[in-house]
This record gives sequence, structure tokens and C-alpha cells, in this order.
Amino acid sequence: MASTPRKVPPRFVVRSVIGIRNALIRTAEQISPPQVTLFDHMSGLIKCMVVAQVARLKIADLLVTGPKTAGELARETGTNEDALWRTLRGAASIGIFRLRDDDRFENNRLSEGLRTEVFASMRDLAEYFGTKSNLDAWADAPETLRTGKNGFERVHGRSVWDYFTDHPHEGETFARAMTNLTEFDASAIATGYPFGELSTICDVAGGRGTLLANVLAVHASVKGILFDAQYVLGHAPAYLKGRGVEDRVTRVAGNFFAREIPNGADAYVLKDILHDWDDERCLVILRNVRAAMEPGKRLLIIELLVERKSTELPGPLVDLHMMTVCCEGRQRSPDDFKNLLEKAGFRFGRVVPLSMPTSIVEAFAV
Ligand SMILES: C[S@@+](CC[C@H](N)C(=O)[O-])C[C@H]1O[C@@H](n2cnc3c(N)ncnc32)[C@H](O)[C@@H]1O
Repeated sequence: MASTPRKVPPRFVVRSVIGIRNALIRTAEQISPPQVTLFDHMSGLIKCMVVAQVARLKIADLLVTGPKTAGELARETGTNEDALWRTLRGAASIGIFRLRDDDRFENNRLSEGLRTEVFASMRDLAEYFGTKSNLDAWADAPETLRTGKNGFERVHGRSVWDYFTDHPHEGETFARAMTNLTEFDASAIATGYPFGELSTICDVAGGRGTLLANVLAVHASVKGILFDAQYVLGHAPAYLKGRGVEDRVTRVAGNFFAREIPNGADAYVLKDILHDWDDERCLVILRNVRAAMEPGKRLLIIELLVERKSTELPGPLVDLHMMTVCCEGRQRSPDDFKNLLEKAGFRFGRVVPLSMPTSIVEAFAV
């Protein structure tokens, strides 16, 4: 279900907040013994699992009515009281929930972000990170490093996308996580590019239509085509309806590795798609998009751009997730995209920075 969109702060505010946060983390690391900082990094798995479990159990939702003891929460979630108390204390130790003097837990600013119905909820993403299929892919990191091939396919015998088709619960958790992540950026994208100049936009692998719905909600004259796998599109109508744009969106199920992308749009969007794939498969996708386009029409690639030597968070870490779990995917720089685009029949136009860390790479079919 669509939650209420937020007004986007200006770019300099967002960049400053991210910059200050990163600088404070670096300062804390500089003044601590290396052992303290390294232990903190090594315990990342413990933190990931604590957040994933409280997200999976929807503890933040259960605390909306007020503080509760671990005993009450254990009864509601079918968990062991001592194990849950220790997990919740662990969560409180990293700032999620407050452990009160009366031994009850209550929501705080961070745990509010794990509630299901809040704007850009992180609940599904947190649950997804802690899924066994994801962790098993990461556990095979030595082999990923040795071969350069993604762990997910090696461990599970199929790509993460085929796995999601066969495991609908995980597929739906991921699709909701993506919807929420995209919701976080969607207003900035919708207002940061002149979409009003276009009459039809095709969002290629657009998930449940989060971006398209937000763009159409801002630009009343624009129509949309939402293209993705059938099992993903099935959930789109509720979201599109929530934004009041369902009448302006045509849904088309298909595979972007085949020539199934619909013709005739003024602009084609690939948001967080190419980073899932290696260069070879990106070229197949780009050529299939190009085949659907008239010369002069626009392609908009929307991603977190990462320069080769950038060590700014979160780019290099997101890049490793793409390497390990997706299909030899990677975060790319504007030059990387320029190279790919020119090989696939496009002219690189410009990079449109947004108020969020994501940017738009604009290209034209030649
Ligand atoms: C990382 S998600 C991005 C979704 C959406 N663009 C967004 O940013 O919210 C990747 C999307 O690619 C879709 N996808 C993966 N393989 C595909 C294929 N072969 N053909 C069409 N869609 C595919 C998935 O279903 C998923 O919705």
C-alpha cells in the first residue's frame, strides 16, 4: 500500500547530512583504538541479524500501542522470552528501541523506521538482508573472491531473480523492500527531471510501479508503461491505485533479455537495474531497450553513481552486495555508463544530480 510521500529537502542539505554523518563516523574511528573499530566492523553480522529478526517479528509494529515486556512480546510472536529479551537488549544497544527502567521496551526514532506502514519503511529490507538465502551467498565469499562469480548462483543453483520466482515469500519481501527504497528517492526523481516534457514513459523492470506512480502523480499529463516479471506486476495495481494513477498505467509482463520491451514510449527508465548485472548482460538489456526505441528518444538510467576510487559510503558496500548476490553486478561511474551506452546504440547526454544520492544518466537513442 502506498504511504504518504514526503517533500524532498534540497540537494545541499541531503549531501551535508550524509557528509557530516560520514565525517563523525571517521572521527570516532580516528580517536578509538583500532581494535575497537575493527570489532565494531566484525560484529556487523550480529547487528544485521538483530535488526533482521526484530523486523521479521514486526516488533516495532507491536510496540505502537505502547511499551511492552519481552514476555508479552514473546507470547505475541511465539518466541522464547529470554532469547527475545536478549535480542531486544542487543537492538537497544545499537540504538533500536529503548529499554526502560521498568524492563519494558518502547519504540524510538530508529525503531519507528522499522514499522510496516511508515514512509519508506526499512522493515522488509532488514528482513531480506537476514534471509538464509542471502546469508548463504555471503558465507561463500572466499569462492566469490577466488572466481569473481556471484555466490548466490553458486550456492542456490540459480540467479537471485529465478530464486525469488520459486520462493514467493522471499520474492515478495524483496519487492516490498525495493518499493520502500524507491519511495525514499521517488519524490526527488519525480521533481528533479523534466518528466512533464514527455507523454509516455516506460519503466523497464519498474517493480510494483513505485517510481512510475510518483512521477505520474506529479506530472498529470504523462502516461506510463510498467514492464516487469508477471509475479511482480501482480502487486502493482494496489500501489498505483493508492497514488491515484492506475488509469494512466499499462502493465506489460515480460523479460528484458528478450525483445519483449514495449515500443513507442518517449522515454525508457532503468532504475537500479543495470547494477544487478555484468557488462555483457547490461549490453543485452540496453540493446533490447534500444530496439524498442525510435532514434532521438530518451533513456534514463537511475542509480547510485560510484567513481572508481570513491570510498564514500554507502557506494562501495552496495557494490559488494551486487557482486555477491546479484549477477556479477556492480555500481558504475558516469564513464562506465558512457562506454556501455555507446556500444548499445545510445549517445550519452548528461548526468542529472538529484537531492538524493541517486543520479539520473540521460542518454538518447541514435
Ligand atoms: C532491483 S529491482 C528494481 C525495481 C525498480 N526498478 C525499482 O527501482 O524500484 C530489479 C527488478 O528487475 C526485475 N527483473 C529481474 N530480471 C528481469 C527480467 N529478466 N526481465 C524483466 N524484469 C526483471 C525484478 O523483478 C525487479 O523488479
